[in-house]
Amino acid sequence: MSLRVELSREIYWLGFNDRKKHLFENHWPLDKGVAYNAYLVVDEKTALIDTAEAPFSGDLVDWIKELLNGKTLDYLVVNHMEPDHSGSIREVVQAYPNVILIGNKKTKPMIEGFYGITENFQEIEEAEVLSLGSRSLQFFTIPMVHWPESMVTYCPEEKILFSNDAFGSFGAHCGGIFDNEIDFAWYEDEIARYYSNIVAKYGAQVQKALQKLGGLAIEQIAPSHGIIWKTKIPYILEKYDKWSKFEADKGVVIVFGTMYGNTEKIADYIARFLVEEGITNVKVIDAAKTHESYIINEIFKYKGVVLGSCAYNGGIFPPMAHIMSDLEHINIRNRKLAIFGSSSWGGGGVRAIQKFAENVDWDIVSEPSEARHTAKYDDICICRGIAKAMADSLK
Ligand code: FEO
Repeated sequence: MSLRVELSREIYWLGFNDRKKHLFENHWPLDKGVAYNAYLVVDEKTALIDTAEAPFSGDLVDWIKELLNGKTLDYLVVNHMEPDHSGSIREVVQAYPNVILIGNKKTKPMIEGFYGITENFQEIEEAEVLSLGSRSLQFFTIPMVHWPESMVTYCPEEKILFSNDAFGSFGAHCGGIFDNEIDFAWYEDEIARYYSNIVAKYGAQVQKALQKLGGLAIEQIAPSHGIIWKTKIPYILEKYDKWSKFEADKGVVIVFGTMYGNTEKIADYIARFLVEEGITNVKVIDAAKTHESYIINEIFKYKGVVLGSCAYNGGIFPPMAHIMSDLEHINIRNRKLAIFGSSSWGGGGVRAIQKFAENVDWDIVSEPSEARHTAKYDDICICRGIAKAMADSLK
């Protein structure tokens, strides 16, 4: 017997916890797992909104059949084609060969490309309404939140927004499905990490989506990952507005790359001097030991960033190169930057970070500190200056 969790009368959540997968998109760590949510609307007509990753397709079809209790499935709304949500389309179509797939003009070639499906596709226009009987579904595109074809589905009669990736989260469900059924603190950083890792690159597009959807009356936001927003809708809307503008809190993240600890010592000097300057939100992170997912998430929270590296074969320490490449890719904006490092003969670490600074166009608050072999008195004085300049820039 399957669970029957209703958002409203005969609008069901069909969600799957994935605690086996180590890496989301084969890249981002899933310490707390992840959930894939689909939704089923049963009215005079029936509609499934999104599916789940392929390994869950059998369970999804069984669940749909149980809830439909002999009725057919009339529509499958494809809000997004990334395979974590589209991965069970083929099995749903096999179970319901006459089901009509609903998507926009960018969805169609992806369905054919990923799954070879060309039949029974209905292309919708912006804000088009599909009646199911006593309830209806309305469709709004939100390009690049998260892919070009991404869209959301709105049920005006129930004031539910099926938002797909938008407003989603890492973290499998621990029994609670709605935001008032959970230990919110357990999820909170996973909500932020999902945004900073998956959605952050598209801040401008998130702003457009917020403006487009801003006029809708919304009582529930039902994403395809994580919890259903019901009592904390202002919280997540406020976060999305802030995050998509790349606004951040007062604080500093120091990320260092070190082989034998000389560069790490400089990081600790700067951290202490920052605290003495009144900055108490200071995080010191070893790039070689911390997955970039968590480093990006910390940098997303705080306005100040201090990057430091030893030299390595005339260049930068590889774990630092890796994190800088990710930061450039996501294109986080509006950060204050300071640079430090160490060299043993020709250097290379500090030079590479300076080049990175040009590429991301962050505001450099002071001259870099580059110690020869180990930090001496003069180097430490420069570090105190870096801390003061960073603290001043955050005031
Ligand atoms: Fe959760 Fe962009 O897929």
